[in-house]
Amino acid sequence: MSSTTYRLAIVPGDGVGREVTAEAVKAVRTAAGVFGFGVETVEYDLGAERWVRTGEVLPDSVEEELDAHDAILLGAVGDPRVPPGVLERGLLLRLRFDFDLYVNLRPVKLYPGVPSPVAGLGPERCDLVVVRENTEGPYVGAGGALRRDTPHEIALQESVNTRYGVERVVRYAFRLAEGRRGKLTLCHKTNVLTFAGELWTRVVDLVAAEHPGVETDYVHVDACCLYLITSPERFDVVVTDNLFGDIVTDLGAAVQGGMGIAASGNINPERTHPSMFEPVHGSAPDIAGRGWANPVAAVLSAAMCLDHLGEAAAARAVETAAASVLAELPAMGGPQMGMTTAQIGDLISSRVESRPQG
Ligand code: IPM
Ligand code: MN
Repeated sequence: MSSTTYRLAIVPGDGVGREVTAEAVKAVRTAAGVFGFGVETVEYDLGAERWVRTGEVLPDSVEEELDAHDAILLGAVGDPRVPPGVLERGLLLRLRFDFDLYVNLRPVKLYPGVPSPVAGLGPERCDLVVVRENTEGPYVGAGGALRRDTPHEIALQESVNTRYGVERVVRYAFRLAEGRRGKLTLCHKTNVLTFAGELWTRVVDLVAAEHPGVETDYVHVDACCLYLITSPERFDVVVTDNLFGDIVTDLGAAVQGGMGIAASGNINPERTHPSMFEPVHGSAPDIAGRGWANPVAAVLSAAMCLDHLGEAAAARAVETAAASVLAELPAMGGPQMGMTTAQIGDLISSRVESRPQG
C-alpha cells in the first residue's frame, strides 16, 4: 500500500472519448480506494468543441498545466467540423513531441472469451506488445510542396531517424522483452528503406549484445502484417518505426477483438514529463452519445497508467476486472454489447471493489 496522491490531467476530448474516459476515471478512483492511494483529477476541455468555440487547440498555458501532472488520461479527439490535422498535429502529436513521449506502448492481447476475427485464435497464441517509436519517422512533419497545382507538382514528406531516437526506443524495448518472454522483433522495411533500415538494424544488433538473454528477430513490415494474422505467437515485443507502428497496431487491434479493446500508453520513460494514456480508437462521431462505445480500451489504458505510476497491484486488478467483464459481453461494441458504456464501466469498478483481497 502506498500513501501517495497522484495528480491526473483528464482530457476526455470529443465524441466517444468523453464517454469512455468517464469510465476509465471511475476505475482509477475505485482502485485508489481499494489500494489506498489518492487521486486528484483536473479536467481539461481540449478538442473540437473548444476549437470551434475559440479557435484554440492547445494554448501554451494549458500545456504548462498539463506538464505539472503525474500523468494524462486522454479520450480521443476529432470531429467532422475540424479540418484533418488540426487536432492531430496541434494536440496529440504536439504532446507526444513536446513531452518527449518517445515510446508508444501498444499491447496486442487476446483476452479469454473475446472473439477474434482470426479463426481458431486463442489467448495463448496472442500476447505481444508493440513498442512504436513515437517522436520521429514521417510524423515529424518535415518536407514541403513545390510547384503546387502545376503538372510538375512535388510533395516531399521526410522520415527522420536519429541515432539518439532509435537507440533510446530500442533500449526500452529490450528492457521490456527482458521482463517478458525474452524475444524482440524489429519490424521495418530494410529492403527498401535502406538508410533508415540500416540504422535500426545496427542499433538493434548493438543493444542485443548487452542483452544476451533476449533473442532477436527481424521481420519486414508487410510480413509482420501477415504473421500478426497467421502466427501472432511468434511475437513477444515488436519494436518499430512510428508509421509502421501506427499501421500494425490497428491490425493488432482487430486481431485482439477490435478497437474497443486496444489500449496504449505514450511513455516518457525518464519521467521528465507526464506520460499520456489513451485508447487506440478515435472519437467515433457516428456513434457518439449512444452508450455504444466499449470503455475497456480506455479502462485498460488507465490500468497501464497505474502501472506506470508504480501501482502495479491496482493496475492488475483493473485489468483483471476489465477482462472478466469482456469475457461476458456478447459483442465488443455497439448496441449488441447488451450493456451501455456506463453500465460496463460500473461493472468493472464493482469488480475492482469486490476483488478477493490478497
Ligand atoms: C494513433 C492515431 C494517431 C497517429 C493520429 C490520430 C494522429 O492514429 O494514435 O494511432 O497516427 O498516431
Ligand atoms: Mn493510428
